[in-house]
Amino acid sequence: MKVLACYSIKGGVGKTASAVNLAYWAAKSGYRTLLLDLDSQGASSFYFRVKSPVKKNWGKRLLKAYGEVLKQVKESDYKNLDVVPAHLSFRNFDILLDEIGKRKNRLSQALKGLKKEYDLIILDCPPTISRLAENIFNASDIVLVPVIPTTLSERTFEQLLKFFKQQDYSRKKLLPFFTMADGRKQLHRETATAMRKRYKYFLKHAIPYSTDVEKMGKYRAPIDIFARGRLANKSYFALWKEIESKLEG
Ligand SMILES: Nc1ncnc2c1ncn2[C@@H]1O[C@H](COP(=O)(O)OP(=O)(O)OP(=O)(O)O)[C@@H](O)[C@H]1O
Ligand SMILES: [Mg+2]
Repeated sequence: MKVLACYSIKGGVGKTASAVNLAYWAAKSGYRTLLLDLDSQGASSFYFRVKSPVKKNWGKRLLKAYGEVLKQVKESDYKNLDVVPAHLSFRNFDILLDEIGKRKNRLSQALKGLKKEYDLIILDCPPTISRLAENIFNASDIVLVPVIPTTLSERTFEQLLKFFKQQDYSRKKLLPFFTMADGRKQLHRETATAMRKRYKYFLKHAIPYSTDVEKMGKYRAPIDIFARGRLANKSYFALWKEIESKLEG
């Protein structure tokens, strides 16, 4: 079982869009896939049409009790693809993590109960660099980082690199890729070229800026369902193939 986090310190960069489309392609490629929606906003749960559990304090139980995650698994409309929906209590993850002993491996412990059932766990993460983020870094084999090719995004990526270095996380876990890339904008072109030069490990495939990604909210489905032949769909598929080769490698 491999764990792939869609993560960024920055909000609104395409973490959820990526988690949803990549989970879809992974499942379609035969991986028994679970998307765990860690963001209390519940956006990926919404896209996959799954409802949040009604249980109180579910966030605490998820982190505390081994095997709890499995109890909240919901089937999606797609073969091989299940979802653990977000819950409002997830907004308190950091407080909960403090309460239950400041450990950095709570999430990885919670995911251990899924080993037999799934080949791939995809985490849709909230934008944070808190205690939850440290749990995410510990639990993940790959931390996939969407980067919009702009100055501010470059800065937050550098902050993440610095944090990884300070905290002694392996830089090799980080897989950045460009998203919302707009080839008509000079700034995007220049920033992408400069960053690719500096960080050779950026993924080759990028996701273009596209209204088809925005339409996921209207159709509540991965792009392949409603815009099969379009560039955004092909780009997510190509990105998935590149990530798959890293997962297997
Ligand atoms: N490639 C893209 N082209 C155009 N719009 C996009 C693209 N990717 C994402 N968006 C849009 O940008 C907004 C933010 O995307 P998304 O929710 O995936 O980001 P996020 O990083 O998960 O945000 P948050 O930090 O709030 O969880 C959404 O409205 C989404 O439809
Ligand atoms: Mg999101």
